[in-house]
Amino acid sequence: MSERLIRGRVLTFVAEPQGIDDTASYRYFEDGAVFVRGGKVVETGNYADIRKLAGAEVEVADHRPNLVLPGLIDTHLHFPQTQAIASYGAQLLEWLNTYVFVEEQKFSRPAHAAAVADRFMDELLSNGTTTAVAYCSVHPESVDAYFSAAEARGMRMIGGKVMMDRNAPDALRDTPQQGYDETKRLIEKWHGRGRAHYAISPRFAITSTPEQLEMSQALVAEHPSCYVQTHLSENRDEIAFATSLYPEAKDYTDIYARYGLLNDRMLLGHCIYLSDREVSVLAETGAVGVFCPTSNLFLGSGLFDRDRFDRLGARWSVATDVGGGTSFSMLETMDEAYKVLHLQGQRLTPFSSFYRMTLGNARAVGLENHIGSLHSGADADIVVLDSNAKSAMEYRMRTATSLLEELFILQTMGDDRCVAEVYVAGKAMKGKGKAVEKRVL
Ligand code: GUN
Ligand code: ZN
Repeated sequence: MSERLIRGRVLTFVAEPQGIDDTASYRYFEDGAVFVRGGKVVETGNYADIRKLAGAEVEVADHRPNLVLPGLIDTHLHFPQTQAIASYGAQLLEWLNTYVFVEEQKFSRPAHAAAVADRFMDELLSNGTTTAVAYCSVHPESVDAYFSAAEARGMRMIGGKVMMDRNAPDALRDTPQQGYDETKRLIEKWHGRGRAHYAISPRFAITSTPEQLEMSQALVAEHPSCYVQTHLSENRDEIAFATSLYPEAKDYTDIYARYGLLNDRMLLGHCIYLSDREVSVLAETGAVGVFCPTSNLFLGSGLFDRDRFDRLGARWSVATDVGGGTSFSMLETMDEAYKVLHLQGQRLTPFSSFYRMTLGNARAVGLENHIGSLHSGADADIVVLDSNAKSAMEYRMRTATSLLEELFILQTMGDDRCVAEVYVAGKAMKGKGKAVEKRVL
């Protein structure tokens, strides 16, 4: 069984930070190491202790002085939009019709889906993201491409076929029965195979008829271990249209509630214009609101009110939302998250940011036993971050005096250039882990 020591400045969270200097929320080892065997973390701690445990013969990947963290997690993005990022000038509904629904039609061709899926996984990894929750297109072949590309790399990925049976081009519409049958087949094929998890994915209330939401309800009831994902309350025109299609619902959230879709495995993208009542419904059901800052700014959608989620006890996570989102980088995403909250007089501390990208997002998808931290028994999905990767960062770092400051510089100035290495189940994926040495003490 393959073994290795990953050495560097190791940072991993054990709890949500409760304030700017909550040192109890994380473990930090200045000269630390993660001992990895058979794709899992055996132990994390001080290098000297871990070295003794691992033995003299073990291979060491020496990443000093870089930071070693759990792989980053992205809780909402669209794999078929990999080549639709940076589409100019439109807000949500016009943007979907003008760009996205055109782009997604290309995924009826399996060869196209396979090529984009490969590139999509590589983009995630080069940005240090080892697990993501993505929408595929309406075509079942796109789901095969997505999970095949993840499986080839050994990645723990969540995803599913979008279901949409109205308000979309003919070529992108399924029917309630077809959406149900195809989803069921895909769940049987992929859910629980290796590291794959299925997400039942009615796109949003505008593109699903009541019959399709009923079918989604049946799927959720029949497959309680699957995730559910959709979009909620992103844009004012979208809200007006969605609620006009479901006049009996109290509000947008109630549309999904009436179809029994809200549970603690449900991820709801955006959640910008919710009332207290709606946020309280999310809190009661355990459903997660997904904050997508680069997308919310790029599409001119609005500002996510994080403090309201916290005040009402609702769960939330963070995500890129590529291709409404403008970057695959969770570092850039947290930079924008900081600004969105700052604009509203809310604070996002550096430790909270790094908690959210790792353990926080792992908890949001109920996978904290596997990913998001470097505890014994966790999957060895690991990212190595270089805070000096860009010249302006290196120059700024000369004045930094604390880990907190370094993390804030990484999040504010960093991007994929800061990802020195990424490990998936213990395997180096970037080929940059050249500081590998075999040493006998
Ligand atoms: N709402 C429904 N579909 C989408 C999508 O693809 N992107 C975003 N940002 N919002 C949506
Ligand atoms: Zn989305």
